[in-house]
Amino acid sequence: MSNSHIEALDPIWETIYSQGHSVKYPYDSVVTFVFRNVPREVARSNVRILEVGSGTGNNLWFLAREGWSAYGIEGSASAVEVAKTFLKQDGLHAEIEVGNFTALPYSNNFFDLVIDRGSITCCGFAAGRKAITEVARVLKIGGKFFFNPYSENHSSFAAGDIGEDGVCENIQSGSMTGVGQICFYGKRQAIDALGDEFKIENIQKVEVTDVTEAANFVHSEWRIIASKVSLPK
Ligand SMILES: C[S@@+](CC[C@H](N)C(=O)[O-])C[C@H]1O[C@@H](n2cnc3c(N)ncnc32)[C@H](O)[C@@H]1O
Repeated sequence: MSNSHIEALDPIWETIYSQGHSVKYPYDSVVTFVFRNVPREVARSNVRILEVGSGTGNNLWFLAREGWSAYGIEGSASAVEVAKTFLKQDGLHAEIEVGNFTALPYSNNFFDLVIDRGSITCCGFAAGRKAITEVARVLKIGGKFFFNPYSENHSSFAAGDIGEDGVCENIQSGSMTGVGQICFYGKRQAIDALGDEFKIENIQKVEVTDVTEAANFVHSEWRIIASKVSLPK
């Protein structure tokens, strides 16, 4: 496996966003994670929260609106532009940068929380582990990480081809059709991806079966909360 593949960001995201795709409202899983885990003993403006793969700023909008210091890193320049305009329209601000979450441009022990809402699952297993090592570097000791990869029970997993670094490509059916490469994790793989730097607090597998379709497509994802115990070696 070449290192360039590990660093790679699927170019489909730039295509999707440059065609006008945007998400405006925060995900309920993100809202729940933040309210349950955010430090309460300090002023909100002194709490720093990072979203990796922040898309068009829907989750950052929620963070900024609630008064926390919001940061995002996102591979698509078009998505970052949309996100900045979206927040500005409501008089809100977040520090959003175009970049690859496998190399985070922040210092060690900087953030109180890090959110991954369906983003690290968009790259292969080695790239995902590299991104999580970076998350472990930039989180404070005791800071919490929301890791949200798709599960191998997802119907789309069986409907694609396995490519380099374990990604599923050319997905032909299920809710992940047309979103490019996705890595589907088993429970052990999700735990291993967190390495020694994290203590797992909670693992949920959330599944929805669409019974409208004769095929009964299953959407299946992991929602894992982990706290940082050590810096990566
Ligand atoms: C499914 S979208 C999720 C967007 C947002 N987190 C949300 O909840 O709406 C995945 C996002 O991750 C971004 N992404 C994928 N791989 C990336 C990488 N290696 N570095 C930075 N961003 C990446 C994509 O451009 C996309 O915006």
